[in-house]
Amino acid sequence: MKNNILVIGGTGKTGRKVVEKLQHMNHPVRIGSRKATPSFDWEKPSTWENALEGIEKVYITFQPDLAVPGALEAIKSLTEQALKSGVKKLVLLSGKGEREAELCEEVVMQSGLDYTIIRASWFSQNFSETFFLDPILAGHVALPKPDAKVPYVDTNDIADVAVEVLLNDKHNGQIYALTGPELWTFEEVITEISAASGREIQFTPISLEEYIKMLGEHQVPTDYIWLINYLFSNVLDAKGNNVISHDIERVLGRKPTDFRKYIRETVKTGVWNPPVPQPN
Ligand SMILES: NC(=O)c1ccc[n+]([C@@H]2O[C@H](COP(=O)([O-])OP(=O)(O)OC[C@H]3O[C@@H](n4cnc5c(N)ncnc54)[C@H](OP(=O)(O)O)[C@@H]3O)[C@@H](O)[C@H]2O)c1
Repeated sequence: MKNNILVIGGTGKTGRKVVEKLQHMNHPVRIGSRKATPSFDWEKPSTWENALEGIEKVYITFQPDLAVPGALEAIKSLTEQALKSGVKKLVLLSGKGEREAELCEEVVMQSGLDYTIIRASWFSQNFSETFFLDPILAGHVALPKPDAKVPYVDTNDIADVAVEVLLNDKHNGQIYALTGPELWTFEEVITEISAASGREIQFTPISLEEYIKMLGEHQVPTDYIWLINYLFSNVLDAKGNNVISHDIERVLGRKPTDFRKYIRETVKTGVWNPPVPQPN
């Protein structure tokens, strides 16, 4: 029997791919987002009951990050509402090396519902969809922690794992750590993107203090600066974060996408080579 599945963040980096894959398999899916109908808004718990009505399984991607103040309370309230609404299983997207995210995982694990936890490393797509895209387009990336090595994971792999664990109960009660197959420093990433896109992109190592100051000068919102500061000071080089996991292969029976493949595929989209506006 097919289940009704709610994908919270169903238009986001992993959620939209989960939705596409489930729809392709003819599974009934509901998108959870502020723009969806019925709408789902993390800031408005009054929207949750409608979004959960008739739903059996939920893929939860929290906004903006499980580490932010208020996330734990939101996850507690959502799991309580899910239980009341008759949901059977929760799949939580969590972050590797985030103590606050682990507290949210525990709430899901103690909810009384079936669950699977997906604990992902930093996404490869942060270089093409969010955080690091603007400096790449500007041709100059300045970042702290130049020696930190990250096993970037591709969001296509996360989505494949999310779909598999949503549909297959043999993954109930599991925590999967998802990483890519290699470790990369920021400088290595930028050098590779520069070569593959044929654009000159400089990399400059700076201190975390300089980086935070620079974000403030660029009018980046305070909440976002708090999150960046947290990610760079507590998560990036946290113990165990530079450890490569084999859980993608365990779950999917195939190797994870390597970072060079992500770069090759992304070059083809043109996101790193936008058309230069021509003078009239
Ligand atoms: N980026 C990483 O490297 C990384 C690594 C590990 C874990 N994670 C975790 O992944 C999760 C998702 O992060 P992401 O950066 O990839 O975001 P994302 O999924 O790309 O976020 C966008 C999605 O969230 C929805 N959304 C935004 N604000 C919302 C709100 N107030 N209420 C309901 N929906 C809202 C958007 O739809 P609407 O605009 O229509 O509402 C859209 O569907 C986070 O919890 C993060 O901790 C991220």
